Amino acid sequence: MRATSALAAHTSRIGLIASVSTTFTEPYNLARQILSLDHISGGRAGWNLVTSSAGEKNFGRALPAHDDRYAIALEYADVVRALWESWDADAVVYDDAGRQIVRPDKVRRIDWNGAHYSVQGPLNLSRSPQNRPILAQAGSSAEGTELGGRVADVIFTTGLTELEPSIDVVRAYKRAAQSHDRRADGIKILPGVAPVIGSTDEEAKRQWDKLVDKIDFEAGRKSLAGQFGGIDFDGVDLDEPIRLDSLPRTEAVEGRRSRFGVFRKLVESGRVKTVRDAPWVGGGTAAPPSDQSVRAAIQAKSTIPKFAWKKVGITLSFM
Ligand SMILES: Cc1cc2nc3c(=O)[nH]c(=O)nc-3n(C[C@H](O)[C@H](O)[C@H](O)COP(=O)(O)O)c2cc1C
Repeated sequence: MRATSALAAHTSRIGLIASVSTTFTEPYNLARQILSLDHISGGRAGWNLVTSSAGEKNFGRALPAHDDRYAIALEYADVVRALWESWDADAVVYDDAGRQIVRPDKVRRIDWNGAHYSVQGPLNLSRSPQNRPILAQAGSSAEGTELGGRVADVIFTTGLTELEPSIDVVRAYKRAAQSHDRRADGIKILPGVAPVIGSTDEEAKRQWDKLVDKIDFEAGRKSLAGQFGGIDFDGVDLDEPIRLDSLPRTEAVEGRRSRFGVFRKLVESGRVKTVRDAPWVGGGTAAPPSDQSVRAAIQAKSTIPKFAWKKVGITLSFM
């Protein structure tokens, strides 16, 4: 959050979206911080709503179960939105002497009393210059999709690497949006991409090989286990085929469920056969570019043809 405030002072056109967890923070503080950033930046702020799958040891409390984290997040997001709307756009006016006046009838308490939060409000900040900060959401399990469909303007996804599963993810978000009386095309889906760039294909390939060479697979095993909620890869030989029946069902994973789902599908389709095949599974879709321009590289390397996205009516942006 502090970094985005510093960036706001030195930039004028980029959007500033901070990731803040609903599991370890309070909605009132979050609503104030993001809306303050929005005012400081002249309406360029956003919040990436994450539920977190680790980190509880820093907060002296147990990590709630996956579905409970999302139940908390749904209410949290509703409280934040209510707080952001607790001042009408015309609540602040100027009198003849140029003094700023707040019109009391344009500012309301929210008197929230829910299962997880009790918040009186109103916020102590006037309405956002962009009406409300942008809401992004990351985590595409069924519960994440429901949350994103209800509240998000932007979805950060990871590993949309194969055509059919990717279309399913996008369609599910559209359906969730429509079930909340929102326009299906009101949500922008941003697949994570980690391009390796060089001035020629050969240079990019060399960079890619260097990166892969530096991977500490032992640490990677632990990282995968951490992200997937403790699934144990310790006994698995790096070059031995991963047995599908040794992996849990995606719905049973308590950690980053959608990321595990991507991993499982890659194992199912044979694109990932061994732990060594999967150095990039934990992040976005990483691929060495096959062309000199990043855009062309992404399009060329994407296994999701552009026409397919058109078919499902989605505007794609890359982050
Ligand atoms: C692109 C992306 C970025 C994320 N960034 C963060 C983060 O900064 N902090 C965090 O605690 N969780 C982060 N998460 C994790 C999500 O909050 C969530 O815990 C995880 O994706 C599990 O959600 P799922 O079960 O719906 O897949 C991120 C997830 C994605 C997909």
